[in-house]
Amino acid sequence: MGDTILVTGGAGYIGSHTCKALAQAGLEPVVYDDLSNGHAQAVKWGPLVQGDVRDRERLARTMSDHKVVGVIHFAGLIEVGRSMHRPDLYWDHNVNGVAAVLSAMRDNGVARLIFSSTAAVYGTPAGLSALSETDVLNPINPYGDSKLAGERMIAANCAAFGMEAVALRYFNASGADPDGELGEAHDPETHLIPLAIEAALTGSRPLTVFGRDFPTDDGSCVRDYIHVADLARAHVLALGLSTVDQGFEAMNLGRGQGTSVLEVIEAVGQACGRPPVYSVGDRRAGDPPILVADPARAMKRLTWKPEISDFQTIVDTAVAWRLNRRFGGITTLPAAA
Ligand code: UFG
Repeated sequence: MGDTILVTGGAGYIGSHTCKALAQAGLEPVVYDDLSNGHAQAVKWGPLVQGDVRDRERLARTMSDHKVVGVIHFAGLIEVGRSMHRPDLYWDHNVNGVAAVLSAMRDNGVARLIFSSTAAVYGTPAGLSALSETDVLNPINPYGDSKLAGERMIAANCAAFGMEAVALRYFNASGADPDGELGEAHDPETHLIPLAIEAALTGSRPLTVFGRDFPTDDGSCVRDYIHVADLARAHVLALGLSTVDQGFEAMNLGRGQGTSVLEVIEAVGQACGRPPVYSVGDRRAGDPPILVADPARAMKRLTWKPEISDFQTIVDTAVAWRLNRRFGGITTLPAAA
């Protein structure tokens, strides 16, 4: 049997894909999740412990019961828009969650942590070029603030207690497991690609483009979409990294190319065989115009590269998952108009 890795939030979207990648690498994932956003059906490669990520005693007991040697910490709140309205929840779950994980790790002598961080730590980039890890960190929403606080708490623990940690700053996680076993199933769904697919296939919920007056080529926001299976693989590689910089390293995970909201809608329409109906609305609070990664550091340090993140594969796997959903219910599609 391989080493056991505790995966908080392992029933969620990126967490479940990472558990599959861990199992494929011969490691044993133990999922710790409160199932508030995750799905028990997505836990397929090891046991599920249902618990709150802020519960440090429960976390510590789980680590000792399962002889955990490393932790991948995903559990947290992830919606930029909601964080503007409920900053209290974001600071509580995302910051106290990290504190609890670190405390349980110290209690158990577990020294290796991979942290699920985000491009939102950069805030609004000063220029239009790709973001590198040396760029200014200045979040513009409580989600990004809370994740940056988590990174800093982890870095301080590494320096003081000899831990080793890697913070992976995801750009826009997207797509679904190419084998069709896993996919995105948030409730409520707020992410662009699944919403555009839903609008194209069922028209059940109107799609709104949040702003067309951004300083971009077509006026809509530009994001760097990266396939969730490529993200998952990076976590496995990061577990094996011999860290420098007092035990803490942060790195971007993106494809290095931007796609605008309107380009996403166009590609989804083509993959579904009918265009999503959409309208243009106001900007969403907290949205920077452009977020594109320079992924050079991760490529070098992890010997990683995006392998299935071409935009077509991202959209095709997401559509296939929606058409053949393994959990979250199967919706009958209306006939094409
Ligand atoms: N958008 C729309 N209409 C919608 C939903 C989204 O126009 O109904 C736009 C947003 O304004 C944004 C883009 O589509 O420009 C992508 O939005 P998502 O909500 O899909 O994703 P975000 O970029 O807001 O956030 C995601 C993750 C965060 C992460 C961030 C990093 O949810 O956790 O990517 O780039 F921090």
